[in-house]
Amino acid sequence: MTTALAERSRRIATRVARTTSALHDGPAPELPPHRELARRELAAYASRIHLTDLVREHGSPLFVVDVDRVTTQLLALRRELPEAQIHFATTSLPHPAVIRAVDAFGASFGVASRGEIDLLEREGVAIGRCLHANPVKSVADITGAYLRGIRTFVVDRPDEVAKFRGLASDYSVLIRLSFPNPRATADPSSSFGIAPEEAGGLVEHCLRAGLRVSGFTFHVGSQTVSAAPWVHAIRRTLALMRRLEHAHGIRFDTLDLGGGFPVEYDEPVPSLGELARGIRAALSAAPRRYRIIIEPGRFVAARAMTLVTRVVGTADRLDGRWAYLDEGVDGAYANIPAEDVHALVFAGSELDVQPPADETGERATRRLRDHRREPVTLAGPTADGVDVVARRLPLPPLAVGDLLLSPMMGACTATTAAGFNGIAPTPIVVVPS
Ligand SMILES: Cc1ncc(COP(=O)(O)O)c(C=O)c1O
Repeated sequence: MTTALAERSRRIATRVARTTSALHDGPAPELPPHRELARRELAAYASRIHLTDLVREHGSPLFVVDVDRVTTQLLALRRELPEAQIHFATTSLPHPAVIRAVDAFGASFGVASRGEIDLLEREGVAIGRCLHANPVKSVADITGAYLRGIRTFVVDRPDEVAKFRGLASDYSVLIRLSFPNPRATADPSSSFGIAPEEAGGLVEHCLRAGLRVSGFTFHVGSQTVSAAPWVHAIRRTLALMRRLEHAHGIRFDTLDLGGGFPVEYDEPVPSLGELARGIRAALSAAPRRYRIIIEPGRFVAARAMTLVTRVVGTADRLDGRWAYLDEGVDGAYANIPAEDVHALVFAGSELDVQPPADETGERATRRLRDHRREPVTLAGPTADGVDVVARRLPLPPLAVGDLLLSPMMGACTATTAAGFNGIAPTPIVVVPS
């Protein structure tokens, strides 16, 4: 095995293990209330959107995307952070229907690549309002993005500044700051951003190169479950902005708080309202003229997509029962190794979502009526030993043909799927309105 493959296996094994940690050998433990609440919500939702009909029509595996949920999440952000301009992080779910919903809501976009600008252009989005949030780009990327209308870029190091040479002067840059957050599931500050104490030097470098610095941006880390990292980052950034405005006689106009707003996977998270209270209090010290930006990805996208998979095989192995699904960590569940997030998995029979073949559905219903649960390891469809979605999950007994559902599957799932073993990407259907 190459070092890269060995590292990938280790990473996946560690991350799947978290799903397992609450489950021990022996009888299946009592299910947590969070799971039961999520089950009830998903069962009601599946019935409302006629999920069984969608599976009958489109088969499985299947992603079901619901743009109404995109709008609901955007409304929640607008209610809790009314001063903030929303730039949806396109990367998290670059689906045309989602882009149209975000655009129709009146929010804008953060982009990270040429491909994302292509998509937004195709959907008729005003590119001039979008923000290029990737701090490291090629000269061709910068020139291309500029020619297509982007007027706000992000930089985090002097080398990047030189790449803007030759562009007209009708654009500005935000300086990306680093605020490490080891508790976040994915901490972008480990790859991007300049330490606040070094940022003054970078601002001077930009000014000498003729770039207009409109302000600062940071990302406190994905799935951040307390307001404290934002509060700390906002306070430090505002102090830095005050000091630099005074020192250089300049006026900034933008403070971008990034993404990181969390959603409930296998554990409850604090409400947006609770986080926003802390954020709003910290922002009250910002000058009124500052434009506040947020770049939510997961918070907008995750709830919008539900995954349906099917059992394609079962086995009794030394460590117990296994069920093999038509989706795994190289596909739709790529968020497990990539981000260490663990969507809940429900048997269709727990939700009254049955496979189309009546007979199989009846069998599944009978098994559920037993109220029995047995620990089962869920594996993906590849011939890859680390393609394990969850170990020893207490589920109703599963048989070939049974359906499984995972909610909260919109963020960094379809986009990060690798197509390993030549397995085709899972189709995405839009819930009819
Ligand atoms: C620059 C930037 N902004 C926003 C986001 C969205 O972050 P989250 O999904 O945690 O809201 C990301 C992550 O992809 C990012 O890299």
